[in-house]
Amino acid sequence: MNSLLAPSWLTEPNDVNAVATGIWPASFKRDAEGQIEIGGVAVGDLAAEFGTPLYVLDKDEFFARAMRIKAAFHAAADRYGTAAKIYYAGKAFLCTEIVRWVDELGLYLDASSGGELAVALAGGIDAKRVGLHGNNKSHSEIGKAVTAGLGVIVIDSEIEVERIASSAGAQDVIQPVRLRVNTGVHAHTHEYLATAREDQKFGIAIADVPEVVAKIRSHKHLQFLGLHSHIGSQIFAVEGFVEAAKRLVALHAELSKDGPIPELNLGGGFGVAYTPADRPKDIEEIAFAIVETVAEECKKLSVDIPVLCFEPGRAIVGPAGVTLYNVGTTKDVLVGENADVRKYVSIDGGMSDNARPALYEADYTACLASRMSTEPAALARVVGKHCESGDIVVRDSYLPEDISPNDLLAVATTGAYCFSLASNYNYLARPAVVAVSRGKADLLVRAETEVDLLSRDVKVSK
Ligand SMILES: Cc1ncc(COP(=O)(O)O)c(C=O)c1O
Repeated sequence: MNSLLAPSWLTEPNDVNAVATGIWPASFKRDAEGQIEIGGVAVGDLAAEFGTPLYVLDKDEFFARAMRIKAAFHAAADRYGTAAKIYYAGKAFLCTEIVRWVDELGLYLDASSGGELAVALAGGIDAKRVGLHGNNKSHSEIGKAVTAGLGVIVIDSEIEVERIASSAGAQDVIQPVRLRVNTGVHAHTHEYLATAREDQKFGIAIADVPEVVAKIRSHKHLQFLGLHSHIGSQIFAVEGFVEAAKRLVALHAELSKDGPIPELNLGGGFGVAYTPADRPKDIEEIAFAIVETVAEECKKLSVDIPVLCFEPGRAIVGPAGVTLYNVGTTKDVLVGENADVRKYVSIDGGMSDNARPALYEADYTACLASRMSTEPAALARVVGKHCESGDIVVRDSYLPEDISPNDLLAVATTGAYCFSLASNYNYLARPAVVAVSRGKADLLVRAETEVDLLSRDVKVSK
């Protein structure tokens, strides 16, 4: 029977050892002994070799998702006689090996700071395939981007026009740029993930765009590639993307009267499943709806369909990631007048390796990974080891009644915005990242050590 404390979207499973479908990577399954393996590697072996917490990336899942997304947008674009470019949004998860994967997949790469740009270039991708974002790029970040010969810089405010032009002028090069437009579309997602409402920091209001584009065009060291919009992240409904596309094409057509504009960038934001309540649409359906809208609007306005760019991050890497934790303590807490039981399961990480529940009230799915259980399911809350009661990793999940210290717990869909949002709160060392594929584990980023934690404290040996 469902616990009265369970949210309405969560149902008690018939089999607490079953792996929820559509959430975990395709390779995530129980072996003959009942232990979970990912990419053909048993979680016990991963934990023994690399420690916990541990970010595990299923490389084949990453590749499969990236190829499917690329194919979907390319097919949709092809159908309407244009081309598509897919930028992997590095903010979701970036390290040099991922840059190599992105390169191998023939994707472009979107960096949103000088740091991400440094990782991108260290990973060896051609600078021409990289774009730089950010609402407050420093002179130094712009200078480095121009020197590297970046494929595009996305202008986010009028002030940046002069900054980029003067940097390109000083180096006597022509820098391709886009202009980020705030379309005013209200994406149905968490407020902090909606990036195109009127009252937020990103982009230029539609009414101001013509003047700023005229400014860009007046600079001989800038090349205007086109408009850019990103309405938010973890979006399921296609309507927001379609509405943004309509508003952008209208603007694109207007601006095209003063000269050809080769591209239009419609951003990322495609949602993924964190729990069984999340039902993302097939990416083919989303791709087709957006491209069809652009094509129809272009036809109405008698303008050529530009090359269409997209910037998915989460949809590629999110479901490819799983975090492994070691269970430290458990306790049953009686809640409310009915004394309903909530089982608290404390793990060896927390909001420092996954800030999303605290930041966005994000929900996750967990499972007991190191063994099977014959006990019934209990409503559980997986919590971290930080000094905050909001340090919750999985707010509600059914776990076996007998989950105990030293069990390994796996949390799904942690590939996006977990490693990249990680902190050292309470001086916890950040976890390692390991890629798994076809029975092999490959360390991508080592775990931090106490030496690392003290390494920036210049007074340490006083
Ligand atoms: C400009 C821009 N592009 C792309 C993305 C990627 O979004 P997602 O990971 O949801 O696809 C983001 C994320 O915030 C963004 O700000």
